Amino acid sequence: MKWSTLTSLALVARANAFLRFSCSQLVTERLDPLVNPGVPQSPHLHQVHLHQNAFNTTMDPRNDLPTMASCTSCTFSEDFSNYWTAVLYFRARNGSYKRIPQMGNHYLEQANGGITVYYIPPYDGKTKVTAFKPGFRMLVGDVNTRTKKNTPEARQMSFRCYDKGWKGEKDSTPPGGGTDTRELPNKVCTGGIRAHNYFPTCWDGKSLDSPDHKSHVAFPSSGTFESGGPCPSTHPVKLPQILFEVMWNTTEFNDKNLWPEDGSQPFVYSYGDAVGYGHHADYVFGWKGDSLQKAMDANCGVSCPQLKTQATQNANRCVQQPKVKEQIDGWLDSLPGGVQVT
Ligand SMILES: *[C@@H]1O[C@H](CO)[C@@H](O)[C@H](O)[C@H]1NC(C)=O
Ligand SMILES: *[C@@H]1O[C@H](CO)[C@@H](O)[C@H](O)[C@H]1NC(C)=O
Ligand SMILES: *[C@@H]1O[C@H](CO)[C@@H](O)[C@H](O)[C@H]1NC(C)=O
Repeated sequence: MKWSTLTSLALVARANAFLRFSCSQLVTERLDPLVNPGVPQSPHLHQVHLHQNAFNTTMDPRNDLPTMASCTSCTFSEDFSNYWTAVLYFRARNGSYKRIPQMGNHYLEQANGGITVYYIPPYDGKTKVTAFKPGFRMLVGDVNTRTKKNTPEARQMSFRCYDKGWKGEKDSTPPGGGTDTRELPNKVCTGGIRAHNYFPTCWDGKSLDSPDHKSHVAFPSSGTFESGGPCPSTHPVKLPQILFEVMWNTTEFNDKNLWPEDGSQPFVYSYGDAVGYGHHADYVFGWKGDSLQKAMDANCGVSCPQLKTQATQNANRCVQQPKVKEQIDGWLDSLPGGVQVT
């Protein structure tokens, strides 16, 4: 159900007024203040969508991101949160790698690559959620997983293969037609691939973080967020559901003659994952004041009048230079950081 819910998201949009917006690409670099704090180069490459100058090797939970940053690459100009995910590469038959370009999502086409972020209130249109507190952060997914697992967490990661085309698809209702899988699709997706990460929706109400960046949050004790499942007693506070979508433009790599001869699919994540089960995502909350709580309480939807917005052109201008320069584009002999495919 989980990985086929996106079409139904569009259908329930009237009752369930989720925030959906783009955050353009800020920087692509090997930095991970959550998993590798203080380390100038994390083992693998990430892309980050946030504000200009506050993404750093360490991110002190006591720092107030909105006051540290000078711009945000997101549509909603009060959102200084950090959103980051791994980067996807194509591995050619000869063993060379090339980074896959990104593209804007449906109706957010002007954004410079980046992530589409959703904050989804409960589907009944009534139940209230508690917005995250300053300093809150979390991680979903497990970078080391290479096998299909049927845990609530593993079910939050999936991929859509736009095999019915991108602009030309018959079902043009966002998020459009296609086939969803838990692993990277093993066929040519003429319209590209969309990657999804859904975050946990229950919180212990106290901890802004935990050593594994996961234990302070949980999934519903029964059912799902979508079905209105209750939070466990250990994590009683219901949060908005965060969803990241990343659109990969795989067009350049449609020629199957470039694909592995053994019939496997050719895409590899920057952390050496050629199946996609290790797909993960990181979040550091950074909305100004109570703006997110207000938006969730108002159930205000995509063009939320309760929130301040900025033009996509301004969001696209919010970029950051990588702290350490290294080659990440063009044909590479290995993944950045010399990461091996495992
Ligand atoms: C980034 O972190 C380093 C080390 O903690 C610190 O010296 C520097 O001032 C920080 N930069 C910004 C822009 O916050
Ligand atoms: C590997 O293959 C790609 C795609 O055919 C090609 O563009 C690239 O130049 C090749 N790299 C090397 C080192 O031969
Ligand atoms: C996707 O990539 C192709 C080939 O490189 C390019 O022609 C096309 O404009 C790109 N599409 C989008 C939506 O960026």
